[in-house]
Amino acid sequence: MNIEFTEEHLAVRDAARDFAQNVLKPGVIDRDEEQRFPTEEIKQLGELGFLGMMVDPKYGGGGMDTISYVLAMEEISKVDASCSVVMSVNNSLYCWGIEKFGSEEQKQKYLVPAAKGEVIGAFCLSEPEAGSDATSQRTTAIDQGDHYLLNGTKNWITNGGSASYYIVIAQTDVEKGHKGINAFIVEKGMEGFVVGAKENKMGIRASDTHTLLFNDVKVPKENRIGEDGFGFKFAMSVLSGGRIGIASQALGIASGAMELAIAYSKEREAFGKPIHQHQAIAFKLADMATDVEASRMLCLQAAWLKDTKQNFDKESAMAKVFASKTAMWVATEAVQVHGGYGFVKEYHVERLMRDAKITQIYEGTSEVQKIVISRAVLR
Ligand code: CAA
Repeated sequence: MNIEFTEEHLAVRDAARDFAQNVLKPGVIDRDEEQRFPTEEIKQLGELGFLGMMVDPKYGGGGMDTISYVLAMEEISKVDASCSVVMSVNNSLYCWGIEKFGSEEQKQKYLVPAAKGEVIGAFCLSEPEAGSDATSQRTTAIDQGDHYLLNGTKNWITNGGSASYYIVIAQTDVEKGHKGINAFIVEKGMEGFVVGAKENKMGIRASDTHTLLFNDVKVPKENRIGEDGFGFKFAMSVLSGGRIGIASQALGIASGAMELAIAYSKEREAFGKPIHQHQAIAFKLADMATDVEASRMLCLQAAWLKDTKQNFDKESAMAKVFASKTAMWVATEAVQVHGGYGFVKEYHVERLMRDAKITQIYEGTSEVQKIVISRAVLR
């Protein structure tokens, strides 16, 4: 890996930090409590160019590299992981998927507005019986000549209620296994497409996670992404990039919790001195800093491989599994450092601890990442 941050990288990081601390932080506790989607904040993130960061400027994006994306995701996630998951899904799963594999018409119609942040997109793979086992799709899309007829249910869809456009993975030929899967772009408002119940979640509570129902939705043939049967590889490839986003989200949750623990350890006194002067606390902070730094290196390595057009499947899985474990551990320990104060909302660390958990689950559980990693090392 050969990374030297440019002035542009640092400017992106500073802009994201400034936005997170000054715009996101003031309302983050209330939005979490009320499960209120950050509509205005996401609009501003779009105006600042954070929703289509890596998209080519000719399609309305920022033309930045994946390193910039990691730096921005970390800063936003330190404060508000509900916002950063919207950012991650729109950048990595939606925009990148269409930019890399979509037709020119699809890019003009569905990528440009999402890259500019005028609308947001969603990625719909998970089903009641197909989360980790992504080939077991029950949603079907039957070829009807000029359109497909889409039927099925998708679960736990991030941006489920707030998105305008949805990439939906469906079976077009059950006999063909993973080669009988396709990806389609579906518009909100298409007849038969119903946004179902919103989930009441433990963490990232301000993001909107929904069940989606498709009842005889007519999807025009030109909305299929790629050649017939490309849907599974499309999903795997897009998720591999998406894992850099979620790994960076986990990194941000971890580093945000660590920063709060460090600050608190300097102001809180016990047994006649600031608690950081007790080795029990100092060693915790040392372990946190070490794991946060290792997570950052793994995220940047995966980003650098992607930017230099090398395979990054193993490295993005490694970054995600390690950073999400770090987020869970660091946030839990940050609550411990805060003692009783850590257990109440005003100190932010309890939210980071709740938010951390999902990073071990979505865009492939830690167990799925280990399947990807073990296959790569055994190959
Ligand atoms: N890029 C391109 N192609 C890939 C690929 C990749 N990264 N990984 C696999 N493929 C290809 C393989 O080459 C193979 O093609 P061939 O048959 O032509 O050789 C094909 O895909 C099938 O691959 P596998 O045999 O490895 O497939 P599998 O069924 O064994 O996959 C798995 C196992 C890795 C666990 C996979 O199912 C997986 O990643 N599951 C997790 C899915 C997931 O992440 N779900 C989360 C939902 S999305 C979400 O959470 C979004 C959100 O809202 C935040």
